[in-house]
Amino acid sequence: MDKTSIHGMWSSRLMFILAATGSAVGLGNIWRFPYMTSDNGGGAFVLVYLGCILLVGLPILMAEILIGRHGRVSPINTLRGLARDSGTSRGWVAIGWVGIVAGILILSFYSVVAGWTLHYTFLYLKQLVGGAAITDPGATFSALLSDPLELTFWHALFMLLTVAVVALGVEKGLERAVRFLMPALFVLLLMLVVYGMTTGFMGQAAAFLFRPDWSVITGGTFLSAMGQAFFTLSLGMCTMMTYGAYLPREGVSIGRVGIAVALTDTSVALLAGLAIFPVVLSFGLDPAGGGPGLIFTSLPLAFESMPFGIVYGLLFFGLLSVAAWTSSISLLEPATAFLVEKFGIGHRKRAALTIAGLSWLLGLLSVLSLNLWSGVRILNRDIMSFIEFIANDLMLPLGGLLIALFAGWALNRTILREQLSDMPEALFTAWRWLMRVVAPALVLIVLVRAVV
Ligand code: PFF
Ligand code: NA
Repeated sequence: MDKTSIHGMWSSRLMFILAATGSAVGLGNIWRFPYMTSDNGGGAFVLVYLGCILLVGLPILMAEILIGRHGRVSPINTLRGLARDSGTSRGWVAIGWVGIVAGILILSFYSVVAGWTLHYTFLYLKQLVGGAAITDPGATFSALLSDPLELTFWHALFMLLTVAVVALGVEKGLERAVRFLMPALFVLLLMLVVYGMTTGFMGQAAAFLFRPDWSVITGGTFLSAMGQAFFTLSLGMCTMMTYGAYLPREGVSIGRVGIAVALTDTSVALLAGLAIFPVVLSFGLDPAGGGPGLIFTSLPLAFESMPFGIVYGLLFFGLLSVAAWTSSISLLEPATAFLVEKFGIGHRKRAALTIAGLSWLLGLLSVLSLNLWSGVRILNRDIMSFIEFIANDLMLPLGGLLIALFAGWALNRTILREQLSDMPEALFTAWRWLMRVVAPALVLIVLVRAVV
């Protein structure tokens, strides 16, 4: 008989898809994908990224959901149980620890950047009631980054919003946040793409995004593309495993929901690119080397000049904040579920607050790296980029590599087949070899190439 999770269960297949999509679609698509593309030379990066999604991301996404749904508890305890049942090493539990540490690190800077989007939402709200226009977006953005107290305030507010949902638990908290606002964000992006077409720069933008210039590619580009693929699909830190634990078995095909989530996430990233680069080009900015400020210094130019631009600006940053919110919830959930299992079902609030508090404190490092400590360099990066690099580009691929090997080699065929029961035999075999050899090898090559 199918077990259920002590943390609660998604009420339907649709709810799971909404929650998993809510986790996937976030700052990774709309803030990070465009600026990583910008900083890594455009089309070639995008192509490598799409390859990573298809050959590594999607199959590992299915593995995480599968492991979670089989285990039904938080990642560490799921891995412990599965290792015991299949008589393999307890060492696999390390995957769960990598995940918890990566989650706390990612949430720390994620919340800071989400704080920027909250701040911009507020700026457009003020404009709507007569506040000053954003005439020089570059200056507005620099002013925000140079103010540690302002950054800390929005970072704190965002973290509180995140804790509030996680503290309430799966059914009451997570489901409500994702239902209507994700589709609204999608429609808004489509409208911005249509605006991009009216600028006359769509062709040039598409060329930048999709025409690969292989001469700008280095080992580092591959690592960034791989890291971005993991980050955007919420993979490698057991988030999807945790959400899989709350997924009913009846009538839910892991293959299908995996494809739905990956497709939606990829479309949102590409749409964001097609919305942003025409604006960048039409205002005479350089599409290359935009850095983390890219969307904040380019899109406001369009919002100030298009009809109803202030309303668009408000909706854009407001919905982006919501998208970031549904993702940060999922960043906090794995570690929270683990603490709940450790200290008891009545301790969800305290568990969520503990992890979020830790992440919030760590986030202050990112805040300071944008101003007072901007001169501090670790491995040629400022503190925030360094944390981003360690967590996104190293820990997530490493976690994913281990998850693939665990699913491919440690779990027995019966368990896999039971979870992927609707998958045609040939596809199942292909998936299993992707897990055993192809995905681990690709991740390993990319990690090694970038380091040596
Ligand atoms: N996938 C999210 C995004 O693209 O914004 C970020 C994220 C959420 C990464 C959850 C990892 C995670 F576990
Ligand atoms: Na994403």
